[in-house]
Amino acid sequence: LFARPCTFFYAAQKSDQLPPPGLPEVAFCGRSNVGKSSLLNALTGQKALARVSQTPGRTRQLNFFNLAERLVLVDLPGYGYAKASKDMQRDWQGVMFDYLRGRPNLMRVMLLLDARIETKSADRAAMDLLNTAAVAFQIVLTKADDVGPVKLAARIEEAKDLARRNTAAHPLVLVTSSESGQGIDELRAEIASLAVA
Ligand code: GTP
Ligand code: MG
Repeated sequence: LFARPCTFFYAAQKSDQLPPPGLPEVAFCGRSNVGKSSLLNALTGQKALARVSQTPGRTRQLNFFNLAERLVLVDLPGYGYAKASKDMQRDWQGVMFDYLRGRPNLMRVMLLLDARIETKSADRAAMDLLNTAAVAFQIVLTKADDVGPVKLAARIEEAKDLARRNTAAHPLVLVTSSESGQGIDELRAEIASLAVA
């Protein structure tokens, strides 16, 4: 599936601008700078598909990508970015949370947590929202290349514990790096299992 081309087809800035629900969707959700856009590029092997930036708050709209007419990948704006203005935060997060709560064809949310950083209250809030809305999500640790083995092992245990305690969470935690390619094939397999035949 991921050998096939993936193409950008839609950007939504407001809740009433979402494309009509069609193919199954998998959305990438997480704090600003956690590596959502980078992961999308690593998965598809298309380096410039989604815009990546060192400045948090790069992705400011919901970007929809069609993967071989079998699945739609959705790059979401990040949450928990302290430097964004209140108005901007409210705008992006409003449309994102509306999307997460109300999307009938949203098959799974990949909830990204930075392997280097402790889980923040904004992450817990996102998981609470997904539990409440009964939207299936899966925890994906990112940037595993940039953390030592002892700390990584502790983060994995913490993530597994979160997966056990959150009712909507998938039990399998994925450990990835867009830099080294670690866990990318495993994540591809999870996503491919949600595509239409
Ligand atoms: P927003 O769109 O602002 O919410 O950010 P994002 O979650 O899409 O993150 P993005 O992919 O833009 O990456 C943010 C920064 O993290 C960039 O400087 C990336 O190069 C870096 N980064 C992303 N993935 C990895 C990774 O696997 N390892 C390392 N070491 N750095 C990474
Ligand atoms: Mg982004």
